[in-house]
Amino acid sequence: MNRGIFITIEGVEGVGKSTNIEFIKKYLDNLNIDYLVTREPGGTLLAENIRDLLLSIDDDSPVELCELLLIFSARAQHIQKVIEPALERGIWVICDRFTDATYAYQGGGRGMNTGLISELETMVQGSLRPDLTIILDLDPETGLRRARNRGELDRFEREHVEFFIKVREAYLQIATDFPKRCAVINAGKELGEVSRDIALLLKTRLFEE
Ligand code: TMP
Repeated sequence: MNRGIFITIEGVEGVGKSTNIEFIKKYLDNLNIDYLVTREPGGTLLAENIRDLLLSIDDDSPVELCELLLIFSARAQHIQKVIEPALERGIWVICDRFTDATYAYQGGGRGMNTGLISELETMVQGSLRPDLTIILDLDPETGLRRARNRGELDRFEREHVEFFIKVREAYLQIATDFPKRCAVINAGKELGEVSRDIALLLKTRLFEE
């Protein structure tokens, strides 16, 4: 049996990840492909509890290193319990954020040492990397406006726009550094156009090799 394909979806807040994941699900349904959709931080009971710790706002918010280690702890659990077993069984995995978010938010946004992130990546993931990473790109001001309209803000959404400008720059740098794995989609276009761009991307990257 062929190993499943591992697809990750990335982008700043309010970029429309959920809507576009719904589109990808329909696309794969039409092709009768067996997949699961999951997210980071999260994806297992324990990892979702860690997510709550990361996103909640209280008097003892994590220092940067604690935040980074919590993210990779959740990731270790998620990979071993959900992602790897699915891929081994030939099931495709669509993951709402993965390690590129760590490079973008902790590396870019917080300015943490990317060498340290890379060491943790190797420790936690071994050779596991996404087969395709879709980076939904949108100017952070528009994204934040959308996110803020959704209601109560989490700990990341409360960051200033300057933070998200750095996050976006880091994502675009990742796309430049890993052009075979990553694709940037302009999420500022009208929804139908974004869906068409994603459909074309999936077709050319995954089904025409
Ligand atoms: P989301 O589910 O709305 O994407 O929220 C998850 C938040 O966690 C988002 O603000 C980005 C942040 N995050 C990191 O800072 N680093 C990471 O590695 C991941 C996966 C998410």
